[in-house]
Formats: sequence, C-alpha cells, structure tokens
Amino acid sequence: MARILSGMRPTGKLHLGHLFGAIQNWAKLQEEYESFFMVADWHALSTRYMHPETIKQDIFEVIADYISGGIDPEKCTFYLQSHVPEIAQLHLLVSMITPVSWVERSPTYKDQVSALGQDVATYGFMGYPILMTCDIICVKGNFVPVGQDQLPHLELAREIVRRFNRLYGDVFPEPQPKLTKYALVPGIDGRKMSKSYNNSIYLSDDPNVIWKKIKKTTTDPQKIYKGDPGHPDICPIFYYQKLFNTEEKCNCIDQNCKSGALGCAADKKELYEKMMVFLKPIQEKRKELEDNPQIVYDLLERGGEKARAIVKETLKEVKHVMKLD
Ligand code: TRP
Repeated sequence: MARILSGMRPTGKLHLGHLFGAIQNWAKLQEEYESFFMVADWHALSTRYMHPETIKQDIFEVIADYISGGIDPEKCTFYLQSHVPEIAQLHLLVSMITPVSWVERSPTYKDQVSALGQDVATYGFMGYPILMTCDIICVKGNFVPVGQDQLPHLELAREIVRRFNRLYGDVFPEPQPKLTKYALVPGIDGRKMSKSYNNSIYLSDDPNVIWKKIKKTTTDPQKIYKGDPGHPDICPIFYYQKLFNTEEKCNCIDQNCKSGALGCAADKKELYEKMMVFLKPIQEKRKELEDNPQIVYDLLERGGEKARAIVKETLKEVKHVMKLD
C-alpha cells in the first residue's frame, strides 16, 4: 500500500485554515493509505531556538487538535520528530550528497531570512528542506499532502532522492505532492488565515469568541445595507459558508446576497450556527484531552515507537548502501 507522510511545525493551536487545508484531508487519506503524520519540533527549533521553552506546550496543542480534528491513532501513525532520532542520522547522511547551491536557492530560506533577520541565517535553518526531505524518505513516503507553499521543498526532496538513487541504487520512491481543494482559507480580515496575521478562528476558541470574530469579519465593502447587491466571491463569510454547507444551500446564499434579500448580519448569524454545530464534537473531544493530557503523551509515545521501528529499517538500508555497516 502506498504511503503518505505529512507534518506541521508546532506553532500552537490550530485554526480553520489548518483544519480544512490539512487535517480533514489527512483524516480522509488515513482510510486509503498507510499514513504517517508528524509534528516537526526540530523544524520549530530552527527558527525558535532562542525561545525553546514555548515549544512543548505548542506540541500539545497541535496534537490535541490533530486528534480532535479526526486523526485517528488506530488508523495511522502520528509522532513527534524528535522521538525518532534516526531521522537526525539520516539527515546527516543525506547532507553529504546535497549540493550547497540546491539549499541556497530555496525560496523559503531567502524569504525567511529577509523577514526574520539574521537570527535565522543559521546552518540548521538552511538545512530545513533537507530535514524535511528526511522526514518524508525515512518512511519511504510516496505522497505528501501539503499546501502550495511547500512545493519548492518537495521539488528539492525529489531532486535529492534522484541523486541518492543514482549514487547508491533505488532506495527511495520519489515523493509526489498531493494538493488539497481548500488549500487557502481566508482569515477574518480577508488575507490568508495565519497566526501571524492575528486573523484566525481557532478550533478551540470559545463560542462567544467565535461569534465576536465572525461579527468582525470583513465582507464585501460595497454592500453597506442589506438591500445592496453583494459580491460573495470576494467575501470571507461566503467562503466559510462553503465549508459548512451543501452546494445547494450555497447557491441559495449566493443568489440572496447578490439580490439583496440576504444581509450580512443575517448571513453571519446563520454561519455562526452552522459552524458551531460542526465544531461542537471537535471541541468536546479536545476538552477531554485537555483534562487528561496524559492520553496525548501516551499516544505520542506509542506512535513514536511505531515510526521508529520503520525508520530504523530505512536507516539500516541507507547505511548498507553507503558502506557504513
Ligand atoms: N515544512 C512544513 C511546514 O512548514 C512542515 C514539515 C516538516 C513537513 N516536515 C514535513 C511537511 C514533511 C510535509 C512533510 O508546514
């Protein structure tokens, strides 16, 4: 059976963008593929090494959201990157064959150094995509469900795999990206939903917080009064409606917004109710995990052991072809 692998850096609580852009997709894929989902805590350290104390709590939040969002430990393997130290060994060995020029041209490296400054101009951060490559190939992943922003990393992963296989024989499959339909969910200000823009609706937000956020959400600026014809295509509220409603219902909202029969206030109220029905079971599950955090840590431990057994095999094979055994 083909294998998929995906992961996230532990950035804290997950929002609707993560749920619809990644988690729900993963939850479906775990039914069809042998699935591995990891939390990339070393990757987090590559940009946050100066504040490592916050990472642990963020790991908990991400895992709690994975599980409550539908990632099922019985159907897949999920784990923490640092629980599988063999990945670091593989990273070292793969570094030997990766030309500096390949990592230097990584767009994320350059962007992040100009956005975050010299603090991230480290050897470790430069190796970010090599480490990500190893996350994928350590379990011989065939498909990698990711957003558009990760495609350059995946391209590099494929190049590294080709070079490795050319040098040492066919050890790794070339990992292919698997893009999702809802790759980009808008935030409440209309920009991409992102923690750093402060425009996110979190899975764990209290209902009253969610309602406040929905009330604040920008809509079509040309629709001032209920009767004004709206443009749902540029409205984040309509985008959210599409996440929670049938196509038929969405067509109806679309028409009523355009005709002026539906005002933004009523539209928002309806959205809120739909969203809460959807989020309720997720929030209940999450509450259970918050009350018993040991459940999360035990699952992580178990997942780590499962992943480790597989990665150890891969590393053995790599050491063999690199004449290290
Ligand atoms: N780079 C990814 C991100 O920032 C996280 C990540 C780490 C990842 N290792 C991975 C994604 C392996 C897919 C596969 O979101």
